[in-house]
Amino acid sequence: MAFTGKRILLGVTGGIAAYKAAEVARRLIGAGARVKVVMTRAAQEFVGPLTFAALTGEKVATAMFGPDRDPLEHVALGQEVDAIVVAPATANLIGKVAGGIGDDLLTTIMLAATRPVLICPAMNAEMWANPVVQGNLARLQGRGLRVMEPAAGPLACGAVGLGRLPEPDLIVEAVAGLLSPQDLAGRKILVTAGPTHEDFDPVRFLTNRSSGKQGYALARVAWRRGADVTLVSGPTSLPAPYGVKCVMVRSARDMGTEVKALFPEMDALLMAAAVSDYRPIQAEVRKIKRAHEEMAFHLTQNPDILKQVAPLKSQQIVVGFAAETHDLETEARRKMREKQLDLIVANDVNRPDSGFQVDTNEVTLIPRAGDPLPLPLLSKEEVAVKILDQVVALLKTRDGVLVKNA
Ligand code: CTP
Repeated sequence: MAFTGKRILLGVTGGIAAYKAAEVARRLIGAGARVKVVMTRAAQEFVGPLTFAALTGEKVATAMFGPDRDPLEHVALGQEVDAIVVAPATANLIGKVAGGIGDDLLTTIMLAATRPVLICPAMNAEMWANPVVQGNLARLQGRGLRVMEPAAGPLACGAVGLGRLPEPDLIVEAVAGLLSPQDLAGRKILVTAGPTHEDFDPVRFLTNRSSGKQGYALARVAWRRGADVTLVSGPTSLPAPYGVKCVMVRSARDMGTEVKALFPEMDALLMAAAVSDYRPIQAEVRKIKRAHEEMAFHLTQNPDILKQVAPLKSQQIVVGFAAETHDLETEARRKMREKQLDLIVANDVNRPDSGFQVDTNEVTLIPRAGDPLPLPLLSKEEVAVKILDQVVALLKTRDGVLVKNA
């Protein structure tokens, strides 16, 4: 995740989840950010400033006044950083920020802040459900602050319910959204990912080496850039990307059904899934037994999902992928024509560091009109950024044409 050069202010308030903020700080630093921690007095009852100072390598700010305090720190801090995250945020902090109260360093910084803010509430379930707290959160959201939903589960008070601080990885993902350009805001994007499983019998299936990593990276990055993202995924071992609606499928035919149903309402389809071209003619209901020396299976072709959605296309931008071992550009261009694509992402899967299963990819982006754009070896997340840059440009051109024809 590209946080390199980014400076983040982490506000920590007084809840039992304050100890988890240390992990949030660690992950942000691991992603390349510089983190400045500001703690309230109550937060220091739960965890000491020394923990954060040691993790971040920076002095922790705890008080508004004192002989070694810069008198303008409360204004400067909230304006110098790239983003502000409050984790955990207590009901008290939320109430003060909603009401415009600045009675300590953190709340005063937030009054003067000009940078994007993420609030990560954590509290007892009844407190969370309290209409006053909900009203305060709605006021914050109305003013453009982002608020994360707390997680459900066992709470420190012994009850089970909504109120847990979201996992540190999810907070870091939400911060990535805060730092990204919002050039896909208002766009609906459908991404497919992973392999498909085509059953021979209840325990065996035909599949391929796709891990789903490139498709999941596309879904993550599209969400960060403000899109409303739906991911239709074949079986993978990857966690669901934060903020993305996930539809899990097994076979090519299931994937086709979901994609066809969702496609008409979308602005763009990115078909990164490695769909199995064939399936066994018939999946046996009972486990196939080891009865013969040799065995042959009859396979039949699966429908081509991209060809099926082509006639449904109205304003959508459609991006396909071509993973090839030979004649990369010729094959990619053939697929672009036959599947009526706006852009095809071609990659040579002969290389060990590109394509299936690994975290890196070397691809060429081939638009229907214009020159191919060969990219160097990049992380799959960086490749996703480049592909989505093209999608943003294609959507802008499409909007221009729609306005002209209106
Ligand atoms: N694709 C699809 N439906 C299928 C097979 C592939 O929509 N049944 C999509 C893939 O998701 C990808 C593009 O078509 O975006 C190209 O997939 P690929 O497997 O490279 O191409 P095929 O058309 O299957 O051709 P071949 O396997 O002969 O190379």
